[in-house]
Amino acid sequence: MIAPSILSADFARLAEATDAVRGADWLHVDVMDAHFVPNLTIGLPVVEDLLKATDIPVDCHLMIDDPDRWAIGYAEAGAHNVTVHVEAAREPVKIAKDLRAAGAKAGLSVKPKTPLEPYVELLRHFDTLLVMSVEPGFGGQKFMPDVLDKVRLARAKVDAGELSVLVEIDGGINTETIEQAAEAGVDCFVAGSAVYGADDPARAVAALREVAARARGKTQERIRGEAT
Ligand code: DX5
Ligand code: ZN
Repeated sequence: MIAPSILSADFARLAEATDAVRGADWLHVDVMDAHFVPNLTIGLPVVEDLLKATDIPVDCHLMIDDPDRWAIGYAEAGAHNVTVHVEAAREPVKIAKDLRAAGAKAGLSVKPKTPLEPYVELLRHFDTLLVMSVEPGFGGQKFMPDVLDKVRLARAKVDAGELSVLVEIDGGINTETIEQAAEAGVDCFVAGSAVYGADDPARAVAALREVAARARGKTQERIRGEAT
């Protein structure tokens, strides 16, 4: 799955930005509050209007303090998936239950330096795991390959039937870096500058999808080969 991040789109033309990525699986919306991260973007009123402007399922990534108070509003507005940061959430299990009760998927995100092991049990309550591959706050940063160990851990738990999260990655994804992320077992790739920095964003989405599918196919072939 490919989820273009509108952080790299023209904020004065958000409806056009959603039209430009027809065929994308999710539309990734970065909500930042200038407290949890040193940047400020958009909040609930803009997301509500965006939901009316597109049929693409909206994936809200909340980089905000106090998600215990604010996350539910995005689910009630109709977001498909709402992700909160484990570093900011006080009662993550309650957040996940409330999000699901409101009809959304519940996502949990870890910053690059946050380990995953302590949160594996917690992930049983969530539908998606968002592994940050840059420090959250800005688009256009360089991919941090070290975080792929967390992807591999999550993939192994999912494949073993211990977890059932969708594994998402966010930050520095382009047609080069997506290959290693796909091999590590990512299901959903967020890409901002690689999509909206391209002349044809829809084509950029298709190109990312193709490279990821090929890399994932190669890995599965290898696993099958090792098993026989
Ligand atoms: C960063 C955001 C990302 C950002 C990714 O804090 O969470 O979603 O848009 O942008 P690129 O793909 O340019 O790294
Ligand atoms: Zn994001």
